[in-house]
Amino acid sequence: MKVWEQKPVNDEGHLLFGGCDTVALAKQHGTPLYLMDEDRIREACRAFRRTFAALGVDGMALYASKAFSTLAIYRIVAQEGLGVDVVSEGELRTALAAGTNPADIYFHGNNKTEDDIAAALDAGVGSLVIDAFEEIEAIAALARERSQIARVSVRVKPGVEAHTHEYITTGSDDSKFGFGLADGCAMRAVEAILAQPSLKLIGLHYHIGSQVFEREPYALAADRTMHFVRAIRDTLGFEIEEINLGGGFGIHYVDADAPIEAVKHIQMMVEVLRTHCDKYGLPLPRIKVEPGRSIVGEAGLALYTVGTVKELPGIRTYVSVDGGMADNPRYALYQAEYSACLANRPHDANETTVTVAGRCCESGDILTKNVALPACRRGDTLAIFTAGAYQYAMASNYNRLRRPAVLLVRNGQAAPIVERESYEQIMQNDRLPDWLG
Ligand code: LLP
Repeated sequence: MKVWEQKPVNDEGHLLFGGCDTVALAKQHGTPLYLMDEDRIREACRAFRRTFAALGVDGMALYASKAFSTLAIYRIVAQEGLGVDVVSEGELRTALAAGTNPADIYFHGNNKTEDDIAAALDAGVGSLVIDAFEEIEAIAALARERSQIARVSVRVKPGVEAHTHEYITTGSDDSKFGFGLADGCAMRAVEAILAQPSLKLIGLHYHIGSQVFEREPYALAADRTMHFVRAIRDTLGFEIEEINLGGGFGIHYVDADAPIEAVKHIQMMVEVLRTHCDKYGLPLPRIKVEPGRSIVGEAGLALYTVGTVKELPGIRTYVSVDGGMADNPRYALYQAEYSACLANRPHDANETTVTVAGRCCESGDILTKNVALPACRRGDTLAIFTAGAYQYAMASNYNRLRRPAVLLVRNGQAAPIVERESYEQIMQNDRLPDWLG
């Protein structure tokens, strides 16, 4: 069920989210304000665990924490028995501070710095996912120096088109990520890793893209990767123990979205793996998946206060709110679409189609175009649904706006998980060199 289809209200007619009065929270904490629904996050995590249990496979979901990376979210996913995918020392430190088991942390990235590698080895992460030839020697050398054996995987590029926005597709041949299967680079990488005594190869990884709706690219990627598993066994005599099938499972932003549920994709991919294993006498590898958006996306709600409303006759109506591309750059980057309502009167009939603009000083500062709403007035509280993934995580201080506060909501209770930034914090790293007087 799409989150915006229910729109539960209290006696005052205010939109409830996680059982909380969204208008009251907006008043108390100010806007822009992000709410994260704890139960939805937990339920999304549990669906992955249930799926693996029902399939009878050794599988684990790693939360792709780039989608929303804060202490509380890491804590929740750890409590639900998920591991995490991190891509920087910042994410790694946050995950560790939240109590994530280091063995359940996978460290990704197409260009890990020496500091990243050292931090990952210090922590003893479950796997460093090798993405380029340079990283093989860099990780092996650092591990050797420390008399450690680094657990690594190889990111492969299955050469599939995920038919999503160009900026978030990753599995095609023309991608900065991973080693090509088709051009032989992946095989060379595996060979080079096996020749390094300070590296232990635990598996393969791929991720084909994000907000993917189709079944075929997942099936094709699983199929090609299993061919590669067989080729590794046949040519190098090495058995791959683990396959990380990535994430990217699409979610609902607007009525027209019809994603296939993440668990269905997983069932189908496991089927592909099983077919290969039966046919070629391979053991079924351990399975990892890396959902980000499908865990936190629909669990998030963004609240703004409506300011100016400009009707440009025959062109469009701009409803401007007190946030914008600084807290959510997704329209600017990917022309993202959203569903919205007025939280103070969510069941008023929609009578106009408007463009929701932010308050930043550029025309590209749009939150979403062509969204149906009742006539908006200054002071209304605008709620944008499906705001949990890649919004707060990509927020900036553009125009010296403070990054918003985030509250965790559950059963009518609300508590901050990120405080609103202060102006002092915005200026805290600025310096005035002596010669400026
Ligand atoms: N695994 C890897 C290696 C990834 O790079 C990603 C996302 C994921 C898993 C999780 O994908 P998800 O399940 O969240 O779709 N900022 C963009 C999305 C960028 C995705 C980056 N990688 C957006 O706002 O749409």
